[in-house]
Amino acid sequence: MEKVLEFIDNNKDLFLQQWFEVLRIPSVSAQKEHKEDVRKTARWLVDFLSEKLGLKSRMIETDTNPLVYAESPKITNAPTILVYGHYDVQPAEPFEEWNSDPFEPVIRDGKVFCRGANDDKGQWCAHLCGLQTYLALHGSLPVQVKFILEGEEEIGSEALSKFLNDAGNRELLSCDALLVSDTSAAGPKIPAITYGLRGVVGFELKLTGPNRDLHSGIYGGSVYNPAIALAKMLSAVIDDDGKIQIPHFYDDVEELSELERNALANNPFDPDENKKQIGIDAEFGEPEYTTLERRGARPAFDINGLTSGYQGEGGKTIIPSWASAKFTFRTVPNQDPDKIRENLRSFFESILPSGVKMELTSEQGSGGMVAPLTGKYIIAASNALERIYGRKPLFVREGGSIPIVAKLRRELNAETVLVGFGLDDDGIHSPNEKFNLESFFGGVQTSVALWEEFGKIEYVN
Ligand code: BES
Ligand code: MN
Ligand code: MN
Repeated sequence: MEKVLEFIDNNKDLFLQQWFEVLRIPSVSAQKEHKEDVRKTARWLVDFLSEKLGLKSRMIETDTNPLVYAESPKITNAPTILVYGHYDVQPAEPFEEWNSDPFEPVIRDGKVFCRGANDDKGQWCAHLCGLQTYLALHGSLPVQVKFILEGEEEIGSEALSKFLNDAGNRELLSCDALLVSDTSAAGPKIPAITYGLRGVVGFELKLTGPNRDLHSGIYGGSVYNPAIALAKMLSAVIDDDGKIQIPHFYDDVEELSELERNALANNPFDPDENKKQIGIDAEFGEPEYTTLERRGARPAFDINGLTSGYQGEGGKTIIPSWASAKFTFRTVPNQDPDKIRENLRSFFESILPSGVKMELTSEQGSGGMVAPLTGKYIIAASNALERIYGRKPLFVREGGSIPIVAKLRRELNAETVLVGFGLDDDGIHSPNEKFNLESFFGGVQTSVALWEEFGKIEYVN
């Protein structure tokens, strides 16, 4: 390992330069004006994977953003590992809240600030540099490595999902284990393997009242205000304890076992530190669950955006013609997005006031996941992390979603290894997203150790 650490240390500038190059391309999948940047990032990846890592790489066109695929040669009596990641990033808005240009990486205080620094460019870039290191020291890889990188994880992974419906494509991606670095570590210097993710189902509710904005003096008190209807309907979804009030919502939610609760309680997560970090003076949620249980193993309802009426300078005395909201449910394994859709619609229909029309639309949604902890690739990953961090990783369930992971796991029938290097305070999706240099280089080192450990696995073709 000494040689590895030395090589990484000697090549810090090169690794940073490579990472910064791809960070500068604003591959925002949600915004049309960045369509070309998304393609440019895919091109950058294909070039890097073929020129710097010598992999057979190509761009795969889809109806939407291209996929990037790469592979090294199959090795007899050694497994195939598929690395999944996403090269698209979230929009940088609100721009005015950034302390520096969101697409010009800068180092301050041992941290790299840039949109995508963590999510997910910094994380897969650690693997690119890890493989570069391995190849420089050993000449060839001990296992077959495949890459599938997509450009629309942040908007629902539609193209990759469709891609997986084809048997030939599944054959192309066939592997023994799926390696994903798009989650968090348990803390600085505290490695984690994520064995659970929540699903997510997104909705938009639009309520329409009068056929135009009305004078609130002439009509107030005699017309149902759609903004008030929206506020009431949304607040009916959840009570003060964070319990979702839609009938049958919890029917399929599985209770945590005592064993799992104990395991989650081993996490050094500090609720007070967490409150301080995000600037709140009290936590929220189901009182009988801990913060980490609420995040990782319980469903949640959140409003993501509210729009109605006059938002400009000064006041405007109106009854708005319409009001709308975007909101999501985070789901846990075994909850069916379709059932949630149906139950929510019936619930809203039952409380919709007369005089207001409702339009409820929803996105495809994805299910949650829990993976078993017994597989040999998980054990190999645990060994790799222990070698680098000097302690065993914590096994965690995280609240975020990576919509395609459950499907990849199912369709490829592969063991899933989620090893993330990020920290909760990296501000992913927020202004001033950052990735600590320590997280990045720890990721590069771990990547090398992972290839070494995967290479040691007994395997017969
Ligand atoms: N990398 C995140 C998910 C994540 C973050 C998992 C931290 C665990 C810890 C991913 O890029 C993400 O943001 N997913 C979205 C999916 C949505 C846009 C469909 C999410 O969770 O909101
Ligand atoms: Mn991500
Ligand atoms: Mn994300």
